Amino acid sequence: MSASITCVGLGMKLGAHISPICKSHIEQADVVFCAASDSLFELWVKEMNLDVRSLQSYYAEGKSRYDTYKQMVEAIMTEVRAGKKVVAAFYGHPCVFARVAGDVIEVAEQENFPAQIEAGISAEDCLYADLRIDPGKFGCQHFETSQLMFYQRIIDPAGYLILWQLAVAGDRKLTRYATGKAYRQLLLERLYQHYPPDHQVILYEAAVLPIDNVRKEVIPLQQLPNATVTQATTLVIPPAISMVKDEMMMKKLAELDKTALE
Ligand SMILES: C[S@@+](CC[C@H](N)C(=O)[O-])C[C@H]1O[C@@H](n2cnc3c(N)ncnc32)[C@H](O)[C@@H]1O
Repeated sequence: MSASITCVGLGMKLGAHISPICKSHIEQADVVFCAASDSLFELWVKEMNLDVRSLQSYYAEGKSRYDTYKQMVEAIMTEVRAGKKVVAAFYGHPCVFARVAGDVIEVAEQENFPAQIEAGISAEDCLYADLRIDPGKFGCQHFETSQLMFYQRIIDPAGYLILWQLAVAGDRKLTRYATGKAYRQLLLERLYQHYPPDHQVILYEAAVLPIDNVRKEVIPLQQLPNATVTQATTLVIPPAISMVKDEMMMKKLAELDKTALE
C-alpha cells in the first residue's frame, strides 16, 4: 500500500452530506483521522473504517491552537511517513476555515507524498440554502471575525458580510473556546463604521443532527454582545446600502459596445 494523504469533507449534516468519493476514500484508508466537534460524527465514521482516530483530544482550553494544529499535522504525517494510505476527515469542507487540512497537504507535498483534497458541504453551503441567499445577487464577503478586528479590512455594506468563529472574536492568543460580551462590544465599534445599530443581522446555525432545528435568529446589531453565541454560530449581516453604479465604467462600456458592434 503506497503512502498518501487525502483530506475529505464529511459535510454538516450527520450521515447525510458525505459524497460517494469521500466515503470511498474513508473506506479504503489504512488509517482515518477524524476532526469533528460532535462525537457522533466519529461513531459514524467508525462504521466506515476499523482504524479511526480522533483529532479532538489535541484541543485544550488555555493551549494555543497553533500548537494543537501542529500536533495534529504531525500525528497525521507520522502515519504517512510510515507508508500508510491516510485519510483526514473534517466536518463540513476540509478547506473552509479548517487550517489543518491545508497545512498537512503542504507538508506532505514538500516531502513528495501524494496529497489531495476532496470537497465537502460546508456551513457556507447550508447557509445559502437555509437563508435563501444567492451570493451572486449582491456579492458576499467572508471573514474570520478576529481577522476583521485585528486588520484594517475593507467592508462593502452593499453586499452580505459573513463572520465566522464569532464565539472567539478577538482572541489574540488563540487559546480560548469563547471570548464573550466585551469582545463583541469591540466588534460592534468596527461594524458601526458601516451599519446602523438597528440593522437586522442573523445568528445562523445549520442543523447537524436529525433532531436539530436550523437557528436563524434575527436581532438588531446592537444586541450582538448579549446574544447567545456558540462555537457553531456564524453571523450573517445583510446589505445595508444599495449598490452604486460606476457611471464612468458604464460610459466606457457603451463606447466599446459601439465599436465592437461595427
Ligand atoms: C473551524 S470552522 C469549521 C468550518 C467547517 N470546516 C465548514 O466547512 O463549514 C468553525 C466555524 O464554522 C462555522 N460553523 C460550524 N458549525 C456550524 C453550524 N452548524 N452552523 C453554522 N456555522 C457553523 C462557525 O462560524 C464556526 O465558528
